[in-house]
Amino acid sequence: MDLKYQASRQWARIQDQFITEDAAVDLTNLKSDPRNFKLALWDPSTNGIRYLKALTYQLGMDLSPEDWARIKRTPHREIGDPISVRCEGETLCMDYVQATFELGFIEARMDLHGARVMEIGAGYGRSAHMIMSNHDIADYCIVDLTNTLELSSAYLRRTLDRDRYGRIRFIPVESLDEAALRTERFDLCLNIHSMTEMRPETVNAYLDLIDRTCSHFYVKNPVGKYIDKSLDGYLQGQEAVEMALENGPLRQLLDIHDSEAVQAAVPAFIEGYRPNDGWECLGDGRAVPWSYLWQALYRNPLADRAEPAR
Ligand SMILES: C[S@@+](CC[C@H](N)C(=O)[O-])C[C@H]1O[C@@H](n2cnc3c(N)ncnc32)[C@H](O)[C@@H]1O
Repeated sequence: MDLKYQASRQWARIQDQFITEDAAVDLTNLKSDPRNFKLALWDPSTNGIRYLKALTYQLGMDLSPEDWARIKRTPHREIGDPISVRCEGETLCMDYVQATFELGFIEARMDLHGARVMEIGAGYGRSAHMIMSNHDIADYCIVDLTNTLELSSAYLRRTLDRDRYGRIRFIPVESLDEAALRTERFDLCLNIHSMTEMRPETVNAYLDLIDRTCSHFYVKNPVGKYIDKSLDGYLQGQEAVEMALENGPLRQLLDIHDSEAVQAAVPAFIEGYRPNDGWECLGDGRAVPWSYLWQALYRNPLADRAEPAR
């Protein structure tokens, strides 16, 4: 027998363990079991980093010059050891790909020069970092839970220069003086992936605050809730799932990977996050790359007549 075409040691092992002699007996789960994870796909349950990097790379290779310009103007993105790829000589992670998409969406619809901004639920501060690095922001006010504020304060102190950092105010919700905040005026409020994790009455209170104090509102949140154990195996437990389902203004269940179901949920999203009836929606769209995150920018036509309390 001519041995020059025989299986490598690698494939001899695969034949032994995965594509065995009875591999063809039952095709029921062929494409989602270890047979296919040796043929056409990597096992998604153990290759999360690979898929995240592939997605980041794909987005990175498609960024517009404007997307890149915003990213390049945002320094020290390497702090915190992000899961990164390199595209065209630049290190890139998913957080800042999203940040440039978000800011691009806002910039196309309003002028941020000299703006006063309020962000509710800022996480570690990626949006504040990018917005302040790209625009001459007069004042950036972050409203968040105390522990998260400690994190964003530490991160932004390291990533922004002293002058920009000095224009940020950190307001813990636990000591939010609503009366004091209501006399302020902001050109833009942002809420990114966080109202969906708040109690419905909290969301209503924030929308009311936004209505009274802001002229624009950018929101990016899920269009609804989902139950799909295949996505993460409910790693954080059944209770965490139940808590997620009770929060946010939009609690209807949908298949978040069905584009028609997502599209059908969009009108409720636009209404659910509108701070008040008079606010006009300047634009909305899918928050790429996620199938079920939607974004919208609203404008308050009455705000121009509000007396700024500066
Ligand atoms: C999933 S993180 C999103 C962070 C950030 N916007 C981003 O997209 O990277 C949710 C954020 O909402 C904040 N948050 C949760 N409950 C809140 C509340 N009641 N008021 C204000 N912020 C809250 C959390 O501390 C966190 O900063």
